[in-house]
Amino acid sequence: MNNFSYHNTTRIHFGQGQIAKIRDEIPAGARVLITYGGGSIKKNGVLDQVHAALGGVTYFEFGGIEPNPHFETLMKAVELVRQEKIDFILAVGGGSVIDGTKFIAAAALYPADPWEIVQTYGAKVTQALPFGSVLTLAATGSEMNNGAVVTRAATQDKLFFFSDHVYPKFSVLDPATTFSLPARQTGNGVVDAFVHVVEQYVTYPVNAKVQDRFAESLLLTLLEEGPKALANASDYDARANLMWAATMALNGLIATGVPADWATHLIGQEITGLYGLDHGQTLAVVQPAAWMFRKAEKREKLLQYAERVWGLTAGTEDARIDAAIENTRQFFEKMGVKTRLSDYGLDRSVIPAVIQKLNEHGHVKLGEHANITPAEVSSILELAL
Ligand code: NZQ
Ligand code: ZN
Repeated sequence: MNNFSYHNTTRIHFGQGQIAKIRDEIPAGARVLITYGGGSIKKNGVLDQVHAALGGVTYFEFGGIEPNPHFETLMKAVELVRQEKIDFILAVGGGSVIDGTKFIAAAALYPADPWEIVQTYGAKVTQALPFGSVLTLAATGSEMNNGAVVTRAATQDKLFFFSDHVYPKFSVLDPATTFSLPARQTGNGVVDAFVHVVEQYVTYPVNAKVQDRFAESLLLTLLEEGPKALANASDYDARANLMWAATMALNGLIATGVPADWATHLIGQEITGLYGLDHGQTLAVVQPAAWMFRKAEKREKLLQYAERVWGLTAGTEDARIDAAIENTRQFFEKMGVKTRLSDYGLDRSVIPAVIQKLNEHGHVKLGEHANITPAEVSSILELAL
């Protein structure tokens, strides 16, 4: 196991009815901005619950943060923050709203052009407005981490940044808020959390037994509970287990002391930036293909994954690895997320476009061994057609 330090500064309020807790979390006298997306929180009663909890607090609202939040939209919120002297933000929504809010929080106090925040991966962020979140979609882990992904619509650049200044101060995780999710988003969320785990687990062994077994517990939970939530959208226990699994999948816990891959995410990000596929859709397409291409270098962990997650112990090692990859693909399909580029109307012509964007962004040495160059990405995408 590698050396590590681990810290996380987000307080979690988990369970039904916990939205009321935000009353105790908002600093006295704060001027609050509620940020949200396209309006799902108005239809499912979540915004009403937030309003009730904020009785007596001065608040403003900024809606319209789109999936894969746009820099252009977020800068309008930054203007409102400055104009109304906002000193606390409350993000109510999925990963896009929470990520967008992280950007707004950092950009509002940034002394230069805020696009620089993503161009420098957050390295120059020295402060941000404090914010909390009410999560409505189990997927990204943004509710308990320090990362955010922002898209500049004008140039189709989808880029991320990290900063310890953008950990949410608190996050409310009420699984009942996710009952209203469309099946597509439930499926995307399960695939996203699943791929977060395997990006940090299917690499190479470093004898990190605790992290490996945490990772396996999260994968098994997602495999068991994902289909239940699709079958019955209001299954509280399934929603609760999915929500906690997704949060734990990307809050730093399973990342400590182990190598990480992230090639699937970085390739997927370019596909979303260029063609607008949902984040989960890109992962479902790229992950099986990436494993097929990288079977040799991931051999030991793929065998461990095959045995401990899929119970595959019979047959040759190669057959077990192939079966584990195929089972993974079928699980994504079962969650309603298609796993081929052609399923989304895309063909071979996307390959040079994706590679051009990876080159532009300097993302040319991907994976846990930093050996996935554009040539390997091209081979991976060939397997994803
Ligand atoms: O906008 P509204 O109307 O709220 O509708 C949203 C949106 O259309 C809807 N939705 C959310 N909660 C709902 C709901 N509909 C009904 N009931 C509810 N309870 O779902 C749609 C998708 O929402 P979005 O927030 O875009 O989804 P997700 O949570 O999957 O977030 C995706 C974004 O997060 C980034 C992705 O790249 C993408 O931009 N990621 C962030 C990460 C992080 N911060 O650590 C890591 C991830 O790997 C990921 O890259
Ligand atoms: Zn993801």
